[in-house]
Amino acid sequence: MVKICCIGAGYVGGPTMAVIALKCPSIEVAVVDISVARIAAWNSDHLPIYEPGLDEVVKQCRGKNLFFSTNVEKHVSEADIIFVSVNTPTKTRGLGAGKAADLTYWESAARMIANVSETDKIVVEKSTVPVKTAEAIEKILTHNSKGIKFQILSNPEFLAEGTAIKDLFSPDRVLIGGRETPDGQRAIKALKDVYAHWVPEERIICTNLWSAELSKLAANAFLAQRISSINAMSALCEATGADVSQVSHAIGKDTRICPKFLNSSIGFGGSCFQKDILNLVYICECNGLTDVANYWKQIIKVNDYQKNRFVNCVVSSMFNTVSGKKIAILGFAFKKDTGDTRETPAIDVCKGLIGDKARLSIYDPQVTKDQVLKDLSMDKFDWDHPVHLQPLSPSSVNQVTIVWDAYEATKDAHGICILTEWDEFKTLDYQRIFDRMRKPAFVFDGRNVVNVEKLREIGFIVYSIGKPLDPWLKGMPALA
Ligand code: NAD
Ligand code: UDX
Repeated sequence: MVKICCIGAGYVGGPTMAVIALKCPSIEVAVVDISVARIAAWNSDHLPIYEPGLDEVVKQCRGKNLFFSTNVEKHVSEADIIFVSVNTPTKTRGLGAGKAADLTYWESAARMIANVSETDKIVVEKSTVPVKTAEAIEKILTHNSKGIKFQILSNPEFLAEGTAIKDLFSPDRVLIGGRETPDGQRAIKALKDVYAHWVPEERIICTNLWSAELSKLAANAFLAQRISSINAMSALCEATGADVSQVSHAIGKDTRICPKFLNSSIGFGGSCFQKDILNLVYICECNGLTDVANYWKQIIKVNDYQKNRFVNCVVSSMFNTVSGKKIAILGFAFKKDTGDTRETPAIDVCKGLIGDKARLSIYDPQVTKDQVLKDLSMDKFDWDHPVHLQPLSPSSVNQVTIVWDAYEATKDAHGICILTEWDEFKTLDYQRIFDRMRKPAFVFDGRNVVNVEKLREIGFIVYSIGKPLDPWLKGMPALA
């Protein structure tokens, strides 16, 4: 029986290994992590992450051929194939701070693999890493081993949160990069055989190591670039009376452009896009490619611009001050169908409004109070380095309440900001909400989920990203 061990039981390691276990009953899969709490949650009825369909998959395999454990060394030493799916956050200090990937967690996993291995291993990069990481990992493994053979493969993950199980069941492609030597090719085949249990062969792409590593960064950069492009258009739509949804629809009909990933928003969030683009920028700079680095930097600049524009719009339309005003925040996760808040644009928007002394009442169906308060207390890039956590200042704590219902959040509020596109926000009883709000009552829709015309009929003043402006908001300098 082939044994697989995955180091890192996070958003990628957990669902990916659960699906491998489900699709490959003949393979034993152990997912290990240094976090005792996370492993305990994977072994309980309340999994540590919310992902549609995940519970069912885990229930079917856990205890049969899928195991979650903190006994990292035991499972690593027994495995034939070791996936490394640890976090690779942006460095916060030292050389490359604010851009380069922090490979501390990866390096410590590699050293541990070298220490405990007694048989040949295939080590798979599942984490997103800078190009040429495999070379560094190879050096760590071979310098510390006792004649054991290690083959390094790059097998980046393309799942998106909220649709992880669907993406894993039916991936657009699986990418495997390896050395172009006979041993390298044998390792590629061994991993390909795992995926071949359920992925059609034509969807399994095999490349050299560097192409696989770079393709992951390139894919995220291209996806984020589409969002920044449509968001840049949204500002122009507001200035000209065009409607960004109509523009997206019209350009998306061109088969060369395609309709996906053209939803204008308050900006992209999530643990990947910004981190991976910064990583790409750093690699370009290290290779002397300043113009290329500047091109990709612009994607993040537009994303920051979009979040600032939204905050400025809220403040300036409410008579240039939100001091003491109750603002309902509907949605805090970085997208719908996840409880993940890493790099969610809601953090920047909430911090902007708190800075202007607003009182926030926050509701998200999947995000806990502790998580929101933690997120609002952290500095940029610290979310993946919990040691730097600072408590929220006492005055800011008083400005934030977390509630478990959209109606409670909006009661007596002056304005509503929709920051995540949860389906339930489309079908709220907006008449009931309007009746219980202060007047004039504002809705700032950062995700284009509400029916603008209907809400205006009820009496709301509505701002919706990239839509023709409400007469109330016309000529507002903050929107430029
Ligand atoms: P995560 O923070 O959810 O999980 C990483 C886990 O690794 C944590 O539970 C941590 O405790 C554990 N860990 C760290 N060092 C360890 C060690 N030495 N030994 C054992 N466990 C260790 O992160 P994630 O979202 O799953 O992302 C993991 C990697 O996958 C990152 O490189 C990320 O860029 C990439 N990725 C993420 C996504 C996504 O949607 N989240 C998608 C594709 C790729
Ligand atoms: C992304 C990539 O899609 C995935 O392939 C990779 O493996 C990890 O990073 P994820 O961050 O989980 O996945 O979600 P994604 O659906 O890409 O959304 C990222 C952000 O972009 C979210 O904040 C989302 O709301 C935003 N977004 C997405 C838009 O603003 N508009 C869109 O059209 C699509």
